[in-house]
Amino acid sequence: MIILKSERDLEAMRPACVVAATVLNDVAAFIQPGVSTKQVDEFAASRIKQLGARSAFLGYRKYPCHTCISVNDQVVHGLAGTRVLQFGDIVSLDVGVIHNGFIGDTARTLAVGGCGVLAQRLMDVTEKGLYLGIAQARAGGKVSDISRAIQDYVEGNGFNVVREFVGHGVGRSMHEDPQIPNFTDGKPSPKLRAGMTLAIEPMVNAGGPEVKMLNDGWTAVTKDGSLSAHFEHTVLVTESEPEILTCLEKVSLK
Ligand code: MF3
Ligand code: CO
Ligand code: CO
Repeated sequence: MIILKSERDLEAMRPACVVAATVLNDVAAFIQPGVSTKQVDEFAASRIKQLGARSAFLGYRKYPCHTCISVNDQVVHGLAGTRVLQFGDIVSLDVGVIHNGFIGDTARTLAVGGCGVLAQRLMDVTEKGLYLGIAQARAGGKVSDISRAIQDYVEGNGFNVVREFVGHGVGRSMHEDPQIPNFTDGKPSPKLRAGMTLAIEPMVNAGGPEVKMLNDGWTAVTKDGSLSAHFEHTVLVTESEPEILTCLEKVSLK
């Protein structure tokens, strides 16, 4: 069941998304060589609290951290711990907050200090893939239009989308219908309607698309050890241009 948001719902949800975006920005600025992932998570927790929100992740299916911090070959759901970030690492940060009863969910991969050309290209392609997907989030289209735009661009650049994790509707719950795969599978796909709020989130591997789980029960890593990147926005479908709710500045999708 897909829940359409009313104007009143959106009045509550927009600020939740702004909080998520603000925290992600601030955490990104906090990251530098020498900080541990635990310090990053604690910093995020303090910013979330200062902004009057709560982590949407902590306690979700017993998830133990405030954010997801996935380094290098880690794809998603990396757990904060004693690992110290090194110059040249790439870090995928995923921030989800609850505020006013609604959730904002957003992620980005960034380099710690700097990174190699492959890592930079992987991040650029993943981010552009996200924006190409978002540009398809229009009433009258289908979820598969989003999926196809992302997959075509990513594969056209020699990388692969992860199959095991997908984007999703988001609202009062973190994971609502519909699922938004980053690939097409020929199955019937829901129609996009104004008032849908969608978390669109390509996860892209520099090598093969396969992932495996670490023994911590959460962290997904690439099977072949290749680098992975992840970008995510919460987006409102309208009759015209999609509205990126987790963006602090208006971006042009043209
Ligand atoms: N934020 C992730 C997503 O984008 C989900 C995190 S689940 C958690 O859908 F358990 F790790 F919190
Ligand atoms: Co997320
Ligand atoms: Co999400």
